[in-house]
Amino acid sequence: MILVTGGAGFIGANFVLDWLAGQDEPVVNLDKLTYAGNMENLAALKTDSRHVFVQGDIADGGLVAELLARYQPRAVINFAAESHVDRSILGPEAFIQTNIVGTFRLLEAVRAYWNGLASGPKQGFRFLHVSTDEVYGSLSRETPAFTESNAYEPNSPYSASKAASDHLVRAYHHTYGVPVLTTNCSNNYGPYHFPEKLIPLMIVNALAGKALPVYGDGQQIRDWLYVKDHCSAIRRVLEGGGPGEVYNVGGWNEKPNIEIVQTICALLDELRPRQAGGSYTSQITFVKDRPGHDRRYAIDAHKLERELGWKPAETFETGIRKTVQWYLDNPDWVSRVQSGAYREWTDRQYGQTAESVV
Ligand code: NAD
Ligand code: TYD
Repeated sequence: MILVTGGAGFIGANFVLDWLAGQDEPVVNLDKLTYAGNMENLAALKTDSRHVFVQGDIADGGLVAELLARYQPRAVINFAAESHVDRSILGPEAFIQTNIVGTFRLLEAVRAYWNGLASGPKQGFRFLHVSTDEVYGSLSRETPAFTESNAYEPNSPYSASKAASDHLVRAYHHTYGVPVLTTNCSNNYGPYHFPEKLIPLMIVNALAGKALPVYGDGQQIRDWLYVKDHCSAIRRVLEGGGPGEVYNVGGWNEKPNIEIVQTICALLDELRPRQAGGSYTSQITFVKDRPGHDRRYAIDAHKLERELGWKPAETFETGIRKTVQWYLDNPDWVSRVQSGAYREWTDRQYGQTAESVV
């Protein structure tokens, strides 16, 4: 079996669902269930004996050691993290605790477990660390996309904490020989995405008749990958990646934020026209920029394509249509994640910059 951490969050839940849809190898899912973890994402697995859910912290070395000893996984895939840049700006502490200390404790437990394995399982074991393109810093419009050999230049507390975790993972391979794999992926979007991030926030705000808060001039560029393509890349790297290797994962879909928001508005105009008439674009509001806002991320995913034959299945056009449709089809999921804690966040983040947003 495999041990997944953070499997109740956006990407982790998609990964667990896809994994068990494609094969019967069981999954132990360790998740702390922070505000971003949601058991509803895993509702389809409620009575599925192939999925064992454990609520707990990756920083709890004793618990991780116990799970490794009990379930003897052949791989650990680490999704668990604090993942939202804006939250890291308002409160970096949790990012240091989970992304750095948590990854360190997890690595320590994995190292002890791996050292104690018999030679066959020891050789086959993998620790796959899921990371981000944000560790590479910000690009100008003309600079080539990030490759695996770009220097790390993280600019936010989030990306700095992920960079630190990547360095620890690297060091555990170099120093102790732990067979690690690292993936650095661009911005994901798709089902079960918590509506604090750009794409789901815009969809749910548009449908609620609220303002669509675009930071600064909206010309910041991100590369976007449909979440199920990220999951297939992780499976591919787990299967064929070389221990100690790093793989960039991206969708070849660089777009400025304003274009993303306009695309969402156009899809909603088609699929769920406004009752009041007119386009959802009339709800777009430019608000104060994010401090230290990275201008552009772009991923060169050639290594993964060349060495492991992976390519994304979705274009941005097909993926965003599926995503908007998923949010239209799942209003109950949306209203349940918009709990009191969610409202506190949106009040704090947007309350002073654009009163009409929340
Ligand atoms: P998310 O915030 O939606 O989910 C994170 C999950 O981790 C939640 O279920 C949460 O409860 C859990 N968690 C948090 N702290 C924990 C702890 N200490 N112990 C155990 N569980 C804990 O994040 P996501 O968007 O699904 O991202 C998953 C991973 O992928 C993260 O490592 C993130 O850095 C990375 N990543 C995300 C993106 C993206 O666009 N979302 C892109 C590239 C890489
Ligand atoms: P986000 O989804 O938070 O991902 P990241 O910061 O990790 O790339 O934001 C994506 C882009 O959208 C980023 O440039 C910030 C911008 N953005 C807005 O313009 N308005 C918003 O309300 C949010 C949440 C993000």
